[in-house]
Amino acid sequence: MDATGLRKLADRAEAEIAAAPDEAALEALRVRYVGRRDGEITLALKLTPTLATGDRPAYGAAGNAARERVEAALDRRAAELRSSTLERDLRPGGEDLSLPPRRVRVGRYHPITQTIREVSRIFAGMGFETVEGPEVEWDYYAFEALNIPADHPARDKFSTLWVSTDTAQRMLLRPHTSPMQIRVMEKRRPPVRVLVPGRCFRYEATDATHESVFFQYEGLAIDEQLSMADLKGVLYSFARQLFGGDRKIRFRPDYFPFTEPSAEIAFDCFACDGTGVTNDGKCRTCGGAAWIEAAGCGMVHPAALQRVGYDPAQHQGFAFGGGIERLAMLLTGTPDIRLFHQNDMRYLGSL
Ligand code: PHE
Repeated sequence: MDATGLRKLADRAEAEIAAAPDEAALEALRVRYVGRRDGEITLALKLTPTLATGDRPAYGAAGNAARERVEAALDRRAAELRSSTLERDLRPGGEDLSLPPRRVRVGRYHPITQTIREVSRIFAGMGFETVEGPEVEWDYYAFEALNIPADHPARDKFSTLWVSTDTAQRMLLRPHTSPMQIRVMEKRRPPVRVLVPGRCFRYEATDATHESVFFQYEGLAIDEQLSMADLKGVLYSFARQLFGGDRKIRFRPDYFPFTEPSAEIAFDCFACDGTGVTNDGKCRTCGGAAWIEAAGCGMVHPAALQRVGYDPAQHQGFAFGGGIERLAMLLTGTPDIRLFHQNDMRYLGSL
């Protein structure tokens, strides 16, 4: 074979490669022409050293050129075959593109987190800043500063979980978010408007409406002219924004050592519109009571104001505190508080 023969060989190979119908045929042609052991061009190049010295450069150059042409043709055809396979797959009637893709599971916030965010958003609209406080608290903030000294009967209400420490002050898992009333007032001067959502702990048996770990939201407003009317207005607006409609609010006298006067708040039931009955009979949401107890509240006790260095003659305010789970149960129609914390995705995913 001479240089001309090599060029003809390359011409033939190029033509065959351009016509290769699929990748298998292309691979067979690659082996046939430029295969490492006995491809036609490979073998022809191996003959170079056997030629007369003067013929070798021209022959070798023609051989290398032939191999490069064939390799380029192989790459070109491989690319063509790849894109036409793709086109065929995308053509209607080609591959079955109607097969549903694997579902992507999109996460979302836990109903308790959603409720906390919604409550915070509503109060933010009325000027309340959301702040958080420690879940492990000193006796002083949890009780003492809230007018609940060690021998006060109100301590019994809170079924406390104490933490062992070597400190003189006793430490506990906070049983309510009210300690933040004191912590916030210690740090700020009036006007104060804060909302404190947070986890609380009580040593209690669990049932459909009680858990030993639960969430509360605490509100505190201190200013120069605040009265019980402001407290009512704020909570009324909150109830309407959260539950919608023309919600009514019921205040009944209650007792808390750190507010005076104190009240218990209830909203008229949104499920039966405050009637206690629905089409199926007794309303299941409020148990026929027509009212849903929501929170404790009152005017911040002057002794608490004095303790943080406020002058009760100049500044007064109100506080309120309630359970987040209670709101979440109403908003999602969840009949048992434990469903939130068992974290069974079959239930949480259905909300
Ligand atoms: N901290 C009280 C409780 O958990 C509720 C409350 C908060 C009452 C603020 C009055 C003012 O029972």
